[in-house]
Amino acid sequence: MQKIIILDFGSQTTQLIGRRVRELDTFCEIMPYNKFPKDDPDVIGVILSGSPLSVYASDAFHIDFSDFLGRYPVLGICYGAQLTAQEFGGRVEPVGTREYGRAKLTQVDATNPLLRDIPVGSQVWMSHGDTITRLPEGTQCIASTETVNYAAFHGVLSQGEQRGEAWGVQFHPEVFHSECGLQLLRNFVVGICGSRQEWSAASFVETTVAELKQQLGTDRVILGLSGGVDSSVCAVLLNRAIGDRLTCIFVDHGMLRKNEFRQVMDDYRCLGLNVVGVDASAKFFADLDGVTEPEQKRKIIGRDFVEVFQEQAKKLYAESYATPPLSEGAGGRLRWLAQGTIYPDRIESLNITGKVIKSHHNVGGLPKEMNLQLCEPLRWLFKDEVRRVGRQLGMPEHLITRHPFPGPGLAVRILGAITPERVRILQDADDIFIRGLREWKVDTPSGPATLYDQVWQAGAILLADVRSVGVMGDERTYEHPVALRAVTSTDAMTADWAHLPYEFLARVSNDIINHVRGVNRVCYDISSKPPATIEWE
Ligand code: XMP
Repeated sequence: MQKIIILDFGSQTTQLIGRRVRELDTFCEIMPYNKFPKDDPDVIGVILSGSPLSVYASDAFHIDFSDFLGRYPVLGICYGAQLTAQEFGGRVEPVGTREYGRAKLTQVDATNPLLRDIPVGSQVWMSHGDTITRLPEGTQCIASTETVNYAAFHGVLSQGEQRGEAWGVQFHPEVFHSECGLQLLRNFVVGICGSRQEWSAASFVETTVAELKQQLGTDRVILGLSGGVDSSVCAVLLNRAIGDRLTCIFVDHGMLRKNEFRQVMDDYRCLGLNVVGVDASAKFFADLDGVTEPEQKRKIIGRDFVEVFQEQAKKLYAESYATPPLSEGAGGRLRWLAQGTIYPDRIESLNITGKVIKSHHNVGGLPKEMNLQLCEPLRWLFKDEVRRVGRQLGMPEHLITRHPFPGPGLAVRILGAITPERVRILQDADDIFIRGLREWKVDTPSGPATLYDQVWQAGAILLADVRSVGVMGDERTYEHPVALRAVTSTDAMTADWAHLPYEFLARVSNDIINHVRGVNRVCYDISSKPPATIEWE
C-alpha cells in the first residue's frame, strides 16, 4: 500500500500530521528523523516535521537529503522547511521571542500545486521562533503573511548530481487553526505525491484479516480483554480471522463499574467472541486489604492480574498441547499473545527529544516456557481509526464510544483502604453520575448529542477516610463525601474540567445523596491537568 513517510524532529504536532494524512485515506508512517526507510517500494512522498529545536542550534537534528531527494516529493513543515532552506544555501534567523499564533496569508501563488484552492486571507498557525530570511537556491516564495515574507516556498533543490522538488511551509497546516491546512496537505499527498487514497477502515479490515489468517494458520491465540475499545476491537478483528481459536480472558477484579462485568460479558458474547470471564474479586480484595498507598494498590493489582491471566493461559496452553494439533478447526496450539497496542503507544520517535511516552499496558509476565509470540493487529492505528474499524466490524456504538477507564478501576478512586462496602458505595454514586451523563441531551453544531459524548472521561471518587456532618429529615448524618470528575481532552496528556450545566450537577448531586447510603455530600472537581491529574490517585 502506498505510504507517506513523516520524519519526526520531535514536534508536539508530528502525530497530528500523521492523523491528517490518514484522514486523507492515505497510509503513513512516522519515523525518527534519522531512520528513513531507504528500501521501501511503497513510499510516495516525504514530510519533514517541526521541532522544538532551532536549525542553527548546536544540538539541531540534521538529515541526509540524498536518501530521498529526487526520488519523492518533499514537504518541510516549520523546522522541516527551515532545515531544507538552511541545508540548500538559505538562511534561518531568530525573530526574538518564541511564540505561536494566528496569521493570515497576504500573498498566495494560486498556480502552485501545493496552494490550489487556498485563498488569500486564509488563517494559518505560525510558530514564530525562527524565520527564513534567505530562500535556498533554486526555490521561489509562493506565500507570505503580513510579518513573514517566506511563509511558503517551492523549487528544485540540487545536491551534487541529485536534483529534486521540494516545498516548505513555515506554518503548521496540520493544526486545526490553520483553516486550509487539510487542503494544503491534500494538495501535497494526493495532488503532488499521487496518493490513490486506498487506506480506509474497510481496506484495513480486509487486508488485516487476510494477513492474520496467513500469519496465524491454525494456531491458537490468547488475549486479555479490559472492556475498553482497543482490546475489544482487537478481539473482534482476530475473531473474524480465526474464530474460536482466539480465547479472550476478561478478569473481574471486583473494582469495575456497577454491573459492568456482566454487561461487557454479554456484549462480548453477542459479538460471537470465545470469552472466559474470571471472577477473581475475592483474591484482589484479600490482597488489597488495608492498603492505602496508591502505587502499592497499582502494583498489587498489576501483579494479581498477571497471576490470574497466567493461570488461564497455562490451562489453555496445556489443553492445546495435550492433543495432536489439527490442521483445521479449533484445535491448534497456543502460540500467540494478542494485545490491543495502538500506534501512539509505539511511535518510537516521540522519544527523540527526551519526552517520555506513557508505557502501554502490557499483560506481561507470561511464563517463558510458553514462548508465545506477540500479535498486535492494531499497531498501525490511531485511536479514531480504531473506532472506525470497530464500526466497520459492526460493533455496538456503546462499546466504541466508551470512556477510558483505568486498569486498576475504582481502586484508584477510593481514597483510603478498599473494602467491598466502599466499592459498593462508589459504584452506586458513579452509576448515577454516568447514567445521568448518558441521558442528558444537548444540541451541538453537529447535531444532538449527550453529555457523555461530550466529555473524554468521567467518574466519581470516594473520600473514604473523610466524614462530614449533614442532616437528613430530622436526623444528623456523619457520612462520606463523593467528588465528581468529568474532563475534556484529546489524549489524556492534558485535560480541562468539563463545564457541565449547573442543572445537571444539581440533579446528580440530589440523586446521589438521596439514593446512595453512606454519602451525604457531593463536590465537583474543577481542576485541570496539569497541574492536577485526571485520576485522584
Ligand atoms: P492521569 O490520572 O495520569 O490519567 O491524568 C491519564 C489517563 O490514564 C488513565 N490511567 C490509568 N490507566 N492504569 C490504566 O490502565 C492506570 O494505573 C492508570 N492511571 C491513570 C486515566 O484514567 C486517564 O485516562
